[in-house]
Amino acid sequence: MIFDAIRESHDLQRDLCRKLTASRGDRAARQVLFLQLKVELMAHAAAEERYLYVPLLMENGGLDASRHALHEHHEIDELLDDLSVRNKKQAGWIATAKKLSFKVRHHLKEEESKFFQVAGRLLSKTKKKQLARKYTQEIVRMRRHYGAEYETVVVAASSGLVKPAKRAADRPATRGRASAGAHLRGSSEPRRTR
Ligand SMILES: [Fe+2]
Ligand SMILES: [Fe+2]
Repeated sequence: MIFDAIRESHDLQRDLCRKLTASRGDRAARQVLFLQLKVELMAHAAAEERYLYVPLLMENGGLDASRHALHEHHEIDELLDDLSVRNKKQAGWIATAKKLSFKVRHHLKEEESKFFQVAGRLLSKTKKKQLARKYTQEIVRMRRHYGAEYETVVVAASSGLVKPAKRAADRPATRGRASAGAHLRGSSEPRRTR
């Protein structure tokens, strides 16, 4: 069912929001938690827009709910942009992270308690099954797409979830290579850190 598949990502988002807003002291840990949340939010929004809100937009009764949800996705994107700075210990950063967490929780609650019911009424059983399959493939594809931008997170091959990358110190030594990191990433292009 499409709604169960979507809820799995919602639970991950809630967990990452809680960990991020509680993060103290360790700058690197905060950076990784932020990127895990950022990639999850972006991948989820893309998959959900394509395989829930586009079909819903095509129904007259689904216009209000889908427009409202897309607007909130945009607001979440803007907060992610504000938070994508090098220094995540700077004044105001954690206050903005709390604002993001509040906005995300509000959005998820509204989807789960209102928009899913609207979609449930408007989409046929067969359509919902088909959308669940497509959404599930798409979220993993989009986690890989956004995750590839960053050096400190990876998408696990087995689970398809965004995980912290192994630190250079934890990787097996690679003899005779000038840049083991670049080799492991399969590219000499520098990755983004924010
Ligand atoms: Fe959403
Ligand atoms: Fe959602």
